[in-house]
Amino acid sequence: MRFSRRTEWNTETTELTRALEARRRAALPVLDLTASNPSRCGFQMPGELLQAMTGAEAQEYDPDPRGRRSAREAIAGYYAARGVRVDADRLVLTTGTSEAYSYLFRLLCDPGDEVLAPAPCYPLFDYLADAECVRLVQTPLVFDERWQLDLAMLEAAISERTRALLLVHPNNPTGHYTSQAEAEAIFDICRRHEIALIVDEVFLDYPLIDVANDVVDDLADQDAISFLARPTDALVFVVSGISKILALPQMKLAWIAVAGEEENEVTTDRNVALERLEVLADTFLSVSTPVQVALPLWLRQDKAIQKEIAARIRQNLATMDDLLARQATRWVSRLRVEAGWYAILRVPSLETDEEMALRLLERGVLVHPGRFFGLPGWLVVSLLTTQHEFAAGVRLLLEVVAARAAETI
Ligand SMILES: Cc1ncc(COP(=O)(O)O)c(C=O)c1O
Repeated sequence: MRFSRRTEWNTETTELTRALEARRRAALPVLDLTASNPSRCGFQMPGELLQAMTGAEAQEYDPDPRGRRSAREAIAGYYAARGVRVDADRLVLTTGTSEAYSYLFRLLCDPGDEVLAPAPCYPLFDYLADAECVRLVQTPLVFDERWQLDLAMLEAAISERTRALLLVHPNNPTGHYTSQAEAEAIFDICRRHEIALIVDEVFLDYPLIDVANDVVDDLADQDAISFLARPTDALVFVVSGISKILALPQMKLAWIAVAGEEENEVTTDRNVALERLEVLADTFLSVSTPVQVALPLWLRQDKAIQKEIAARIRQNLATMDDLLARQATRWVSRLRVEAGWYAILRVPSLETDEEMALRLLERGVLVHPGRFFGLPGWLVVSLLTTQHEFAAGVRLLLEVVAARAAETI
């Protein structure tokens, strides 16, 4: 049997995954510093939120390709509460951001076309691009006090076939915002090369005022705003969803917002994009009615849910900083983090990040090797892990790294 080339993936499990499975089979404990699924980190959905899906309205099937008006208006209200104007008619609902990317790649790219994405970044982009026969071209983020795109390299990576640039704002796992100055330079590049900009803002509601690392000093308010509030003539799509905003990944709801004000001219790129996205969405009608019916009520809980998540993340970050400060020798340090759910750890380069992750797992701590995100040589940890597990995991991590460093010296 011949299968498509686009699905010719290397599905072999990594050594780390195999070691984890073996450890779990042997019922050995694992302090999981990769846990980022809210439903497994102690954030259970209150029962009354589920009830919002059980009314008579949820039983009807009267699909609107862009998504129920009441759901889209609730999303517009969510943005309005943050001072961002979004027209409900410029939103298209999807079952997750993955589907949003898939619609956008189909809208913008023919097979073999290219999309640019920063590295390090969200590891799913490779698969999403492959699935749509699109080539993902990586362009480096560089760390110099803070993370930023190398704009000259970005521009040099644009070819005849480039159709879009992907940004994650704030980025995963680097936790940095795309500053206003960078955004303006990017808009200019996108306009000149006639490429679209796709911005993933799922972590935008989770700023981390990181006093310990002086982040606030040079981070202006305007650097942390949505791309929907950054005027431009470039064609910009913003992607977001409730898996992070409401910590409800199991409910499968996200959206695409086409940036810009309403335009009367039907043939503008933005209007054509919306019309075509509507046909794509109409072909699948994939978002379930009960979830759309419940969304307005759920979104009214956003502040309460985000407060709980923010408290967890900040507490874990403070615990980590405290433990890092107490090291007899500072073998491990962390990079500054501006927002999001992850932290990046610098460890001595005595072995690869994968070898270090394996060594840690042997002692019972699970971390992401940086290579998983395109960041070889570093370790990435989730800040969502429950507090007790997080503290114990970081403590053990520091112990294992110090012991490894002592072996060499
Ligand atoms: C940058 C980014 N976008 C999107 C998602 C997931 O969104 P969804 O569950 O809506 O597909 C993740 C999950 O970790 C992510 O890191």
